[in-house]
Amino acid sequence: MVQEHEPSTTGEAAEPTATRRIADDTESSRASRGWWDRNADEYQEEHGAFLGDDRFVWGPEGLDEAEAGLLGPAEALKGRDVLEVGAGAAQCARWLAAQGARPVALDLSYRQLRHARRIDAEAAASGGPGVALVQADATALPFRDGSFDLACSAYGAVPFVAEPVRVMREVRRVLRPGGRWVFAVTHPIRWAFPDEPGPEGLSVAASYFDRTPYVEQDESGRAVYVEHHRTLGDRVRDVVAGGFRLVDLVEPEWPAWNHQEWGGWSPLRGSLIPGTAIFVCERD
Ligand SMILES: C[S@@+](CC[C@H](N)C(=O)[O-])C[C@H]1O[C@@H](n2cnc3c(N)ncnc32)[C@H](O)[C@@H]1O
Repeated sequence: MVQEHEPSTTGEAAEPTATRRIADDTESSRASRGWWDRNADEYQEEHGAFLGDDRFVWGPEGLDEAEAGLLGPAEALKGRDVLEVGAGAAQCARWLAAQGARPVALDLSYRQLRHARRIDAEAAASGGPGVALVQADATALPFRDGSFDLACSAYGAVPFVAEPVRVMREVRRVLRPGGRWVFAVTHPIRWAFPDEPGPEGLSVAASYFDRTPYVEQDESGRAVYVEHHRTLGDRVRDVVAGGFRLVDLVEPEWPAWNHQEWGGWSPLRGSLIPGTAIFVCERD
């Protein structure tokens, strides 16, 4: 869940500039890894309390897997092998472990995974089970075919890769037959609006159909942050091309209890337009 940040800086370097240009998977991965390594501390400091150390929150609306059951009933998770893609500090994986599942939390960023390790170490004192952590790119998963029963991602990896169908195919490969893959991304409609939580974020400012990536680049033109847009139709086609059936598309509504702003997500905008799209997919 990003689209909120000030352009990141490195040491004395000039502030990156925001632009729209093509960025392939190699450049996107390199930028993501660097950005999340540099910004993981601040991200966890700012959002860690809302995410909770062992909650499974699908997005800034606060939809909780404990209530939503998008991966299936919580009691059916026991003993299941689950892959969390783009896990960050592995909060979701930790909730899965508490249900008796066997999660593996995968992320590109070493620093994000350090936060996962920190939270696990703190939880160990009170008997927390800890989760298996793997540093890798979601476009090349380092697992054998058919290693998992379920896969999930709450804003991890998918919005940051140029060719999300590669992630779909990789996830399908590592899932067992009948496996479920549930992933949340920024709702595609948000691309057309300024990333602002207030009224200025309610007027269309860009074409929904313009897929040119959002890129922040340094003085030399090197991307330091990349986010990719796909329309709703593109996402459905990626799911299908990846070998999945789409069984649900969840657009969480903003709940009355949630007063927090998260970047461009806010109660105001949340009451008017969707902020998150969650794709519930199954493989044969
Ligand atoms: C917004 S965070 C989501 C993590 C967690 N669910 C949360 O809400 O904090 C996005 C995560 O995706 C990871 N990521 C970005 N691109 C990735 C890639 N190509 N492969 C694996 N992880 C990636 C980032 O390192 C980051 O930890």
